[in-house]
Amino acid sequence: MPDADRPGGSPLSTSLGAGQGGLRRVDVDPSDDRAFARWVSARARAFHEPDIESDSDLERFASSRQRMLRAVLDDTEEHADIPVGTLSAWDLGVRLPGAPGQSTRTVSARAISAVSVAPTHRRRGIALSLIVDELRDARRSGLALAVLTATEAAIYGRFGFGPATHGTDCALDVRRARWLGDPPPGRVRLVPRDELRSLAPVLDEEAHARVAGEVVRWENFYDRMLGLTPDRRRGAASLRAVRYDDEAGRPRGYALYRVRRSAAQPQVMEAAVVDLVAATPDAYAALWRFLSELDLVDRVVASLRDDDEPLRWMLEDPAAVVTSNERALLWMRVLDIPAALTARGWAAADTAVLDVRDPLGLAAGVFRLTTDSEGEARVTAVSEGAAEREPMLSLGIAELGALLAGGVRADTLARARRVTSDDSAAAARFDRMLATARTPRLSSLF
Ligand SMILES: CC(C)(COP(=O)(O)OP(=O)(O)OC[C@H]1O[C@@H](n2cnc3c(N)ncnc32)[C@H](O)[C@@H]1OP(=O)(O)O)[C@@H](O)C(=O)NCCC(=O)NCCS
Repeated sequence: MPDADRPGGSPLSTSLGAGQGGLRRVDVDPSDDRAFARWVSARARAFHEPDIESDSDLERFASSRQRMLRAVLDDTEEHADIPVGTLSAWDLGVRLPGAPGQSTRTVSARAISAVSVAPTHRRRGIALSLIVDELRDARRSGLALAVLTATEAAIYGRFGFGPATHGTDCALDVRRARWLGDPPPGRVRLVPRDELRSLAPVLDEEAHARVAGEVVRWENFYDRMLGLTPDRRRGAASLRAVRYDDEAGRPRGYALYRVRRSAAQPQVMEAAVVDLVAATPDAYAALWRFLSELDLVDRVVASLRDDDEPLRWMLEDPAAVVTSNERALLWMRVLDIPAALTARGWAAADTAVLDVRDPLGLAAGVFRLTTDSEGEARVTAVSEGAAEREPMLSLGIAELGALLAGGVRADTLARARRVTSDDSAAAARFDRMLATARTPRLSSLF
């Protein structure tokens, strides 16, 4: 595999036009310490993060070592071995809706992260080239989807990514929190953090089994979240872990939190939730109640929560919960339309004809989707000019990515003029096929 130390690599995608002299795309070998450090430095520089000065700075990026690292080098630069563009990629399990009454289905998707371009090389198509090459590679590997979580939301629509899940930050004012209903019958216990290392993946699996949009969390995710990696150990001293056991003593949920002063209002003490996972409604209620009843705490804050979080409905005064910072979390890019449509379960037996455009030309065409009462789908390509009895829905590949996990209604996109049809009822009909029991969500950024 070529890396940043050896000559080689390939020119940037030819579709990107002229003016790319000196630029070449390479794969960086993550086991090569020097090349890896340069890749990490380039990424840190573009994201305005502190420079990498020691081996321990590099530890923060341990998970990148497990990934495919792409880079663009500029041979005309004085320090030509430091990449001017970076991207990391790996294959990640993403949950799509299951058939009615069934669990979600986990599909392997190409995850993309660390997209960065040196401040001196912006707006020359380097990010575009890295992303297009990655999408093509994923498609060649037989993957139906690519996914990412974005720092800059405005960028990825043009690459065919649609916002598939949304999340918000929420704050619970504990003085206003009067709980409805009896306290759950089980017990909340404080546990050492490392005890959650084996329990959390099991509870996540159960809790996320019915939630589309969630991804399969990876080893290093847990180590970092629980403060078990060398770079996180010091900051983790204030991290507390609790577990909820049901009446039979079976663990059904956990929360990880720290109590701190609010950065914006130093007189306010907050319990900041790092993760709260509940496999049952009792566990969910018990963990939130526990956090709201902590002494010395004025407010419980949590990010990456749903916009239809049940919390509000557990309180006499729903306004005790204030949400903010609503944003798209998972961005989904369909690479293979038939494979993506057959990967999920469907809520109703019907037929839809989809005319899908793709600005990058990776996945486009007219497809007939037929779903049965078991929630399974059959997809056939419709040849040009073929007469179709069913109304046709026209949409872009980004819109398909937004719809696939059930995160938006086709009717909403039709009213936004992003899904069009000659038949005004076609979007609502497609919505009955797409319907999911729960709004999709994502609780792990990558
Ligand atoms: C964002 C970033 C990766 C873009 O790299 P780039 O090489 O300048 O992008 P490209 O030249 O390939 O541009 C591709 C398209 O994205 C658009 N674009 C680039 N940066 C954008 C931004 N910050 N906001 C909105 N659109 C942007 C370009 O206009 C272009 O669209 P067009 O072809 O329709 O004109 C780069 O500016 C960067 O590293 N920023 C700091 C790190 C960062 O924000 N990374 C993204 C995290 S999600």
